[in-house]
Amino acid sequence: MRHWTQLGEASVPDSDKSIFLIRGKDDFFIKLSGGQELMSTRKHGSEDALGALPCQKLKHRESACVLIGGLGMGFTLAAALGAVGPGARVTVAELIPEVVEWNRGPLGDRSGRPLDDPRTQVHVGDVANLLRENRGYYDVIALDVDNGPEGLTKSNNSWIYSEQGITTTMEALKPAGMISYWSVSADRGFNDRLGRCGLKVEEISVYAHGNKGARHTIWLATKQ
Ligand SMILES: C[S@@+](CC[C@H](N)C(=O)[O-])C[C@H]1O[C@@H](n2cnc3c(N)ncnc32)[C@H](O)[C@@H]1O
Repeated sequence: MRHWTQLGEASVPDSDKSIFLIRGKDDFFIKLSGGQELMSTRKHGSEDALGALPCQKLKHRESACVLIGGLGMGFTLAAALGAVGPGARVTVAELIPEVVEWNRGPLGDRSGRPLDDPRTQVHVGDVANLLRENRGYYDVIALDVDNGPEGLTKSNNSWIYSEQGITTTMEALKPAGMISYWSVSADRGFNDRLGRCGLKVEEISVYAHGNKGARHTIWLATKQ
């Protein structure tokens, strides 16, 4: 019996690539043209940690101002909302409009429908634009727009991991604000770059699912 159903297709802006929303027997998958899996609802421990860890460290969680880039399957957004208070504002920037539609539709139940939370604001577009436009605005910025600093699926995203991008992101933070970055693997060069930009850096290895198996890397970088 066939367990795979394609529910949607979207093109990735400024690239020749497409992504596909697939429903399997028990889970949803977002795959890149060629079949590479970008995300699934099966494993999201590190995506949860990316949103929760920096928010849990805030002194004023009640009214925190948070930026998430991008939405994906909504787990980082849901985890951030779970860690901040009723007066918080959480903006999620997502480049691909169909990803937002999929989260409003069939995907939404898996993450608890965080787009329906009244504290959530959606920005359909490049998170880099919000980083450039806002100064001293966010308490937390959680970035998971690609595989990490290396092996990018969208070449424009390399700016986010460059010294210029890191500095711009840091300037978008309030004093003592925090950036969290997700990566599929550790990256000594990126770790050093964060330090050179003047951030206090903590590198954390987080299980992709449960408490064994594959791990991903999260950097918590605090503005000093
Ligand atoms: C790996 S997924 C994020 C997974 C997410 N952390 C979660 O909890 O499911 C990356 C997402 O970022 C989006 N994206 C990629 N580049 C972006 C950019 N420059 N600005 C905003 N969103 C972007 C992609 O379309 C995709 O939905």
